[in-house]
Amino acid sequence: MSELSQRPESPVVGETIPHESAALHVTGRALYTDDLTPRTKSVLHAWPVQSPHAHARVTALRPAAAYDEPGVVRVLTADDVPGVNDSGIKHDEPLFPSEVMYHGQAVCWVLAETPEAARRGAGRVEVDYEPLPALLTIHDAIAAESFQGARPTAGRGDVEAALARAPHVFEGETEMAGQEHFYLETQTSLADVDDGGQVFVQSSTQHPSETQEVVAHVLGLASHAVTVQCLRMGGGFGGKEVQANGYAAVAALGATLTGRPVRVRLNRTQDFTMTGKRHGFHATWRVGFDDDGHLLALDTTLTSDGGWSLDLSEAVLARAVCHVDNAYWIPDVRIHGRVAKTHKTSQTAFRGFGGPQGMLVLEDVLGRCAPLLGIDPLQLRRRNFYAEGQETPYGQPVRHAARAVTAWDQVLTTGDVAGRAREIAEFNAGHPYTKRALAVTPVKFGISFNFTPLNQAGALVHVYKDGSVLVNHGGTEMGQGLHTKVLQVAATALGVPLARVRLAPTRTDKVPNTSATAASSGSDLNGAAIKNACEQIRTRLAEVDAGRDLPWEKLVGEAYLARVPLFAAGYYRTEGLSWDATTFRGSPFKYFAYGAAAAEVEVDGFTGAYRTRRVDIVHDVGDSLSPLVDLGQIEGGFVQGVGWLTLEDLRWETTHDGAHPERHGRLSTQAASTYKLPSFAEMPEVFNVAMLEQAHEDGAVYGAKAVGEPPLMLAFSVREALRQACAAFGPAGTSVDLPSPATPEAVYWALDEARQAAVAPEPAGA
Ligand code: MTE
Ligand code: HPA
Ligand code: MOS
Repeated sequence: MSELSQRPESPVVGETIPHESAALHVTGRALYTDDLTPRTKSVLHAWPVQSPHAHARVTALRPAAAYDEPGVVRVLTADDVPGVNDSGIKHDEPLFPSEVMYHGQAVCWVLAETPEAARRGAGRVEVDYEPLPALLTIHDAIAAESFQGARPTAGRGDVEAALARAPHVFEGETEMAGQEHFYLETQTSLADVDDGGQVFVQSSTQHPSETQEVVAHVLGLASHAVTVQCLRMGGGFGGKEVQANGYAAVAALGATLTGRPVRVRLNRTQDFTMTGKRHGFHATWRVGFDDDGHLLALDTTLTSDGGWSLDLSEAVLARAVCHVDNAYWIPDVRIHGRVAKTHKTSQTAFRGFGGPQGMLVLEDVLGRCAPLLGIDPLQLRRRNFYAEGQETPYGQPVRHAARAVTAWDQVLTTGDVAGRAREIAEFNAGHPYTKRALAVTPVKFGISFNFTPLNQAGALVHVYKDGSVLVNHGGTEMGQGLHTKVLQVAATALGVPLARVRLAPTRTDKVPNTSATAASSGSDLNGAAIKNACEQIRTRLAEVDAGRDLPWEKLVGEAYLARVPLFAAGYYRTEGLSWDATTFRGSPFKYFAYGAAAAEVEVDGFTGAYRTRRVDIVHDVGDSLSPLVDLGQIEGGFVQGVGWLTLEDLRWETTHDGAHPERHGRLSTQAASTYKLPSFAEMPEVFNVAMLEQAHEDGAVYGAKAVGEPPLMLAFSVREALRQACAAFGPAGTSVDLPSPATPEAVYWALDEARQAAVAPEPAGA
């Protein structure tokens, strides 16, 4: 057991406690960024002027009429930017564009005394556009060869030779939609400037340090002149990893120009139409199997729909490429990736960060090929699992491969999968118009940022003379329970009760140069940095104690009198990582998180409507830092994955022949009324979640594994069950090509096609 992972006796980590803000959340007392607005004097409200074109040159912008609107104080345009007119991390995102790149993009912002006045003022800004052709689908972008950023390839062996040798070769295409984050709290920032010109931005951001950097660039200031604070977020899910930056910059620019606090808070429609989503992907593939269903070779090209700018698309693509294998060994493999450039919102990080999209490709391949091979999909999947000692396509040894097997076996047993498969077969034999199916899928997800430098974190721990403790770290809280875990880590490392430790909001002036709270690594990185700070203090206190075993308060008091410093800065960097972004080889991940899920669905043959009868999950969180928090993450991640795969259907309008040009490229699903999110009705009727036992992770703080993203991909089990239920309407051996999302409508057409196969005449010569 490593020093990092070892737990002392009676640790506070591992205790089942509620989220540190649970009581505040449920009573409505928890403060989010916009709750500060009514507590702040003379706030100005910002409203965007949004483009009615998906692609156009801005030929003129006349703000004058907006000032006739009572309450309008200032219109922000490109001319007002003292620094760089760019809010992107790749310098391809003008904050005030002269060429609009998607429908709904803000061309300028109006500041007013009330949101209403700002809205009316925005309506009076005159903008002339010269419309340009727009690419709206991934297919159009591929046809036009409209790509952006790097086009990596990972692989090993000789794919062509292996495919030529393989007794069974299939090829096909797989497409999957994106997903709206639908965090309950939309993008929000509130900025103010003090007497010395210090800019203070309260922001709902997963990445305060980058928000600080972008604000500084736009304002032409050094980083030390900008402080960003994040109290907490009402959900981020990746959507605030970079996309909070631009709104913070608008608020900060407004505050510096007017000398008044400025609030930017998108309403739901604005958030839907302006901010990036999960990347939709398209994939082409060729796959070879032996007679027993072992994967021999895979050749695939992934194309993601990046939208109008690069944003995190290259990193998302990298993770997709590194997750096509999921839990399966592919001897000869080539995975190629590219990012399409389209005239849509700039797609961004979303829970799983490309991992789900990469994994879906191979799960789709297995789900479609199993009937063609005449092998039960469950057997086909199990047969292809990694064995210890094998390497991923990018050359990382798959450590603890047996854990995927353990999770799988456990879910088969506790879920009574064999017994229920028999019951389902009986049920289906007696029900021509209703079919059930049960599918099991595995998850293997790499933990760490692919880009090695991001795997570092800092912390600041203060012990006051009375023995109370205040901790700060670089991570942000978005509901995932990071602060709860960090409090537990601090109490454990200091050896004090949880109640002695308090956590202060995340601020860039406390811990600098932080990474985004992302890649599920928040507790790995910040937890370890906190532990490091606490241990420095502990070591100094041990000297003061000199074996006397003094009570904490007394020891702290003595240490102060002896002039021993009672605060420390902690630091952590993940060791043992390597990654070559040009050859796409190395060991970018500290470890893998594993899991398995079994899902049973029932599908109605008249409508395609379905329900999820039961889900059993076994998921690997290592030795949990906070079991209740982890349970919530597993359940929440799974349900969010089910939403992506079965319900949530983003639609962009495309018009042709010049009809309704103002609608071309408009997002038509702009609200919860047209964009269906999972709710109570879609919860599995029986939902059993277990955490893998004896799963200590040697390389991570107190033996725990990251949990934020991996469970999302357990939702593949539901999609595969739906596929199998559709197939059950057709003859044995029916391969179902199920769209993603598998909405009831899509399921209906898929099962109808399977049903047609049953009545279709035999092809001539068969
Ligand atoms: N859980 C809640 N409740 N809200 C969120 O926004 N974001 C997810 C996950 N779980 C999220 C969440 C994403 S995308 C990530 S990367 C992780 O939490 C980030 O936090 P962590 O690194 O502390 O797990
Ligand atoms: N996950 C989330 N965010 C990131 C990553 C990642 O792997 N890499 C860079 N930003
Ligand atoms: Mo999560 S998509 O890494 O913010």
